[in-house]
Amino acid sequence: MDANCPGGPTWRSRRGKVPDYTALMRTDPLAYLGEELDSLKQQNLYRRLRILDGEQKAHTTFDHRSVVNLSSNNYLGLTTHPRLRARALEALQTYGVGSGSVRTIAGTMAIHMELERRLAEFKQVEAVVVFQSGFTANAGTVSAILTKEDIVISDELNHASIIDGCRLSRATIKVFPHKDVDAARRIIQDLPVTQRRLLITDGVFSMDGDLGPLPALCELAEETGCIMMVDDAHASGVFGKNGRGTVDHFGMHGRVDVQVGTLSKAIGALGGYVAGGRNLIEFLYQRARPFLFSTSHPPSVAAACIAALDVLLEQPEIMEQLWDNTRFFKTGLERLGFNTGISESPITPVIAGDSAKANTLSDRLFEEGVFAQAIGYPTVARDKARVRTIVTATHTREDLQYALDAFAKVGREIGLIQ
Ligand SMILES: Cc1ncc(COP(=O)(O)O)c(C=O)c1O
Repeated sequence: MDANCPGGPTWRSRRGKVPDYTALMRTDPLAYLGEELDSLKQQNLYRRLRILDGEQKAHTTFDHRSVVNLSSNNYLGLTTHPRLRARALEALQTYGVGSGSVRTIAGTMAIHMELERRLAEFKQVEAVVVFQSGFTANAGTVSAILTKEDIVISDELNHASIIDGCRLSRATIKVFPHKDVDAARRIIQDLPVTQRRLLITDGVFSMDGDLGPLPALCELAEETGCIMMVDDAHASGVFGKNGRGTVDHFGMHGRVDVQVGTLSKAIGALGGYVAGGRNLIEFLYQRARPFLFSTSHPPSVAAACIAALDVLLEQPEIMEQLWDNTRFFKTGLERLGFNTGISESPITPVIAGDSAKANTLSDRLFEEGVFAQAIGYPTVARDKARVRTIVTATHTREDLQYALDAFAKVGREIGLIQ
C-alpha cells in the first residue's frame, strides 16, 4: 500500500492524528488452519502433492523419479495424442488463448457450438451443453433443475460434485446404500407422488471401479416417475460403443434423462458436459450457475476435445488395447493374491486396510518405480484404505509386468500377500 494513501502508515486523518494501529493489531485469524493441517498430518490424512515433471503419460517422471504411472485418468493416452495436439495448436493460432467471457455474454465461440453438436451426435441425444469441468457439470445441473421443494435419491458412493449439487439445490437428500435398488425403491415408495424426485447414480464409481445398476435404476425411475440421472465421468471413452458410456453399454438410450460426461479423463483435455433433451439443455443455458457465471473454455481445449471424438470414432483399437491391458493387470493382481474389491473397469483398487498401510504400500511402490496413489478416509471407509490403480491403453506389457513385480515384492514385504 502507498505510504501516503488513506489507510497507509503515514496517512493522517483530517484532524491531524495518526490512526492508532496498535488497536488493530491482532493474532493471525487463520491460525486455526495451521492447527487443522497439523491434525491431518498426525492422523496420516495429509495429502502431499506429487509433481509431474513432464507429460502425463503411462511411463513418466514424478518428483524426478522415473515411474510406471498407474494414477492418471488418461485412459486412452489422449493427453499427448498427436491429433489432439495439432488441433489444439491450430485453434490456438487461429483464435488465441482464451474465450474472454462467460458463455451467456461474449464467450460462446463457434468452436464451443461445434463441440456441443459433435457431442450430441456422439451421445445420440438431442442436445449437449459443455461446462468447464465434470464437477461443475454435476453441481451446476443438479442445483439448477431442483429446488428446495424437491427430493434427490442418491447412491451413498456418488461423487462429491453430485453431493455438492444436491446441497446447493436445497432439495431433501435421501441416500440409499451402495447399488441397493430395493432400498432406493423403499425410499421412493414412502415419498408423496406429487413431489419432484431425482434418482441419481455414478455410471462407474471412481474409488471401487464398479458399475451403477443402470437397468434396474432406469426401470425404477420409469415405474415411479423419477428423473433419471447418470454421472458417466469414468465411463466416457471407456464403456459402450466407441466410448459412449454406460448408457450405451447397458442399452439404456432414451431411458436416462440427464447424462453427465467428462472431457477431463479419457478425452484427455478438460471439461464436462450434460447430454439430454433440448429443453433440459436450453434450461441449463438459462439457469446453470457455472455456465452463467464462469468463463468458457479456451478454444484450443474445445478443439482438442473435437479431435478426441474423431479418435474415438476412427481408432476403436485404442479402447480395445485399454481393455486388453485392464484384463492382463487385473488378472495379475488377483493371481498374486491381492484384494481388488469389486471392480468391473480399468480402475482397480488394491485394498490394504488402514490409511497407514495404504500409504506405506504407495510409498514403497514409488521407491520401486511405480506410482499408485493411496486413497484413505474420508474418501473411502477407514478400514478400506487402498492404492488405486488405473491402467491405460498406452501402458506396454513391460510396464504392466514391471508394476506387477513391484506389487509382488512390496505386498510380501508388508504382509499383504504371501
Ligand atoms: C465420478 C466423477 N464425477 C465427476 C468428476 C469430475 O470430473 P472433472 O475432473 O472433469 O471435474 C469426477 C472426477 O474426479 C468423478 O470421478
